[in-house]
Amino acid sequence: MKHKTIEISYTEYDSIDELSINDANLVRKAREASKNGWAPYSNFHVGAAVILENGAVILGNNQENAAYPSGLCAERVALFSANANYPDSPVVSMAVSAFNKNGITLQSVKPCGACRQAMLESETRFGKPVRLILDGTESIIIIDGIGNLLPLSFDKESL
Ligand code: THU
Repeated sequence: MKHKTIEISYTEYDSIDELSINDANLVRKAREASKNGWAPYSNFHVGAAVILENGAVILGNNQENAAYPSGLCAERVALFSANANYPDSPVVSMAVSAFNKNGITLQSVKPCGACRQAMLESETRFGKPVRLILDGTESIIIIDGIGNLLPLSFDKESL
């Protein structure tokens, strides 16, 4: 028997002002995208902005449904739209932002498990890490690759 430990790594920033110009711009785009989220049930509006290797920026936001499980998170709306329209251009970075009745969340948004799995597929599909920029007004987290969010993952090598 062996006990093993996995470490994850990320960088935390106190505000958008500490980010590079490119990262700050992507966060602003995610914030804009969150305004068009369809979230009448949770009132939690999420936006995602994906930048591809070819420079294209694709936006997404959460799309809820009266039949709750039929809705989709902002991250997958953006990611699938990027892959649908630019199937040959790897995803470089994704920014995610959310607001509720109190405004933009203080802490950074954490993608759900299904979105993490979809991001992993993008990494294995293109063989390139997806950089995540998770927005919050008091904490922005940057993660260099989904391995840090989804250790011991199921991918095509598992089949
Ligand atoms: N949601 C996202 O779009 N992304 C996340 O990272 C977390 C959750 C959405 C799903 C649902 O519309 C609402 O937020 C509340 O869970």
